[in-house]
Amino acid sequence: MSKAPILSPSSPFKLALIQLAIGADKSKNLQHAKSKILEAARHGANVVVLPECFNSPYGTNFFPEYAEPLDGGDSVAMLSSAAKEAGIYLIGGSIPESRQGKIYNTLTAYDPTGKLIGVHNKVHLFDIDVPGKIRFKAKYGKIGVGICYDMRFPELATVAARKGCVAMIYPGAFNMTTGPLHWELLQRARAVDNQMYVAACSPARDLEASYHAWGHSTVVDPTGAVIATCEESETIVYADVDPAQVETIRSSIPLYTQRRFDIYDDVSESVAFDDEGNGTKK
Ligand SMILES: *[C@@H]1O[C@H](CO)[C@@H](O)[C@H](O)[C@H]1NC(C)=O
Repeated sequence: MSKAPILSPSSPFKLALIQLAIGADKSKNLQHAKSKILEAARHGANVVVLPECFNSPYGTNFFPEYAEPLDGGDSVAMLSSAAKEAGIYLIGGSIPESRQGKIYNTLTAYDPTGKLIGVHNKVHLFDIDVPGKIRFKAKYGKIGVGICYDMRFPELATVAARKGCVAMIYPGAFNMTTGPLHWELLQRARAVDNQMYVAACSPARDLEASYHAWGHSTVVDPTGAVIATCEESETIVYADVDPAQVETIRSSIPLYTQRRFDIYDDVSESVAFDDEGNGTKK
């Protein structure tokens, strides 16, 4: 038997996933993303999410041209000012980041004053090995993040859930094969296993681009039910996230107190978090 993890103080919030139409012009992408963030805030969103690679066409071949440093980069400047102007928490999708001669797929998060409160590098890649920051603290509670392919690895979501996160949010861009097969299934699987909210935010599909994203940005509740979704074109998906639902489902199906760590290990025990939410293996 195990002790249930303690949820941090948390309160309901409105989540908005911006399924953004992304083109080849980086400064237009930034401007357009900003106008959509402000639109979501006008509709009452408290936490706003952008898709993976929101400033660039999708594909590692585009990364060298579109990559920029976080410090002094145009994308971070826009995201910070948009979060502040809109007065929301912003999960700024991801951007190709250049750092010391390498390129990373990097997610940044901001509080309503525009302060950068979280940086996460896509964890599951072939050629990159940096410990990712996998959660940050909003006034609504702790939120875990991953990027796209990270969604396929259940351990990441389980660690976040057991460390008190009420939701796991993934900017991502599945394609026309993996999308219909796994996009919704993986979100529902992560949600039902961990009894937490799971959301994934995709770019809109652009048939003129080389990569055709599946779209279908979706929010799943802690019972595993889809509570908001869409098709492939540009839109904003809204959902009310109520952390009390996490408590309710965890008490009616008490996985959290009935795990058998005498038989298997608690994966979250192997990860230590510093004050800023950076997770490293003990
Ligand atoms: C989508 O990605 C998978 C995995 O990388 C690949 O096998 C598949 O061919 C891709 N599908 C399309 C339509 O590009």
